[in-house]
Amino acid sequence: MNIRIFSDERTAAVYAAAVIEYVVQTTEHPVLGLATGSTPVPLYDQLVEFHQAGLSFAHVTTINLDEYVGLPPSHPQSYHAFMEEHLFRYIDVRKENTNIPRGDVQDLAGECKRYDEVIKNHPIDVQVLGIGVNGHIGFNEPDSVLKVGTHVVTLAEETIAANSRFFASTQEVPNRAITVGLQPILRAKKVLLLAFGEAKAQAVMQAISGDVRTSLPASILQVHPNVTFVLDQGAARVFLEEEKRKHATYNHG
Ligand code: F6R
Repeated sequence: MNIRIFSDERTAAVYAAAVIEYVVQTTEHPVLGLATGSTPVPLYDQLVEFHQAGLSFAHVTTINLDEYVGLPPSHPQSYHAFMEEHLFRYIDVRKENTNIPRGDVQDLAGECKRYDEVIKNHPIDVQVLGIGVNGHIGFNEPDSVLKVGTHVVTLAEETIAANSRFFASTQEVPNRAITVGLQPILRAKKVLLLAFGEAKAQAVMQAISGDVRTSLPASILQVHPNVTFVLDQGAARVFLEEEKRKHATYNHG
């Protein structure tokens, strides 16, 4: 597990974008696993800048992690709308090569199956992740079990509270989502987990330390052979304090 700590999220985003540019440039049919939320926004801004500087996404396929149940792509808070607003409209990725689960279909079980098929046919080269304050990745919430494939999940209270900032009120946040399971994340050739700000410091520390546990889904990344935590100073705070403490103990016996 690699840990990269940057002075601020903009510099962290440049690093992550450079890693993605390398994959896009050196892979014949690159597949990018993408996340939504506040965290990847500076990364997407940077990718747009790279595109304006000449990087093409015309041969890229994207696979998003999740979508709210009940929101059509036209809903401003849907993850379909988010991806359009922050990335897709600015780059030359082909619409038919972008994939996001549909949360507005009647047959959600059928949609989960369909999405698993899409993933099976497009193994992910680099997976971008954020992390929830409760340690979720995608919308794989803390639970007694973790799911392998795409599934419908009831969002945790902390997730609804955290995401209510995008809606007029907490009541308007959908309480269910459709999310990929852990298999495509663990099978991705490379994982970049981005975390910015002190609110994530505890979840980050819990993910990288201790045993793998279903109560902290991101801890499963410890078994992935190529994962990098891309952090700013805030998100790295608890980790850095612990390192300092270990160092002091070592130096003073
Ligand atoms: C979003 C997703 C979530 C978010 C996480 C952090 O597609 O899968 O796991 O990455 O909830 O959200 P932000 O970045 O808004 O703090």
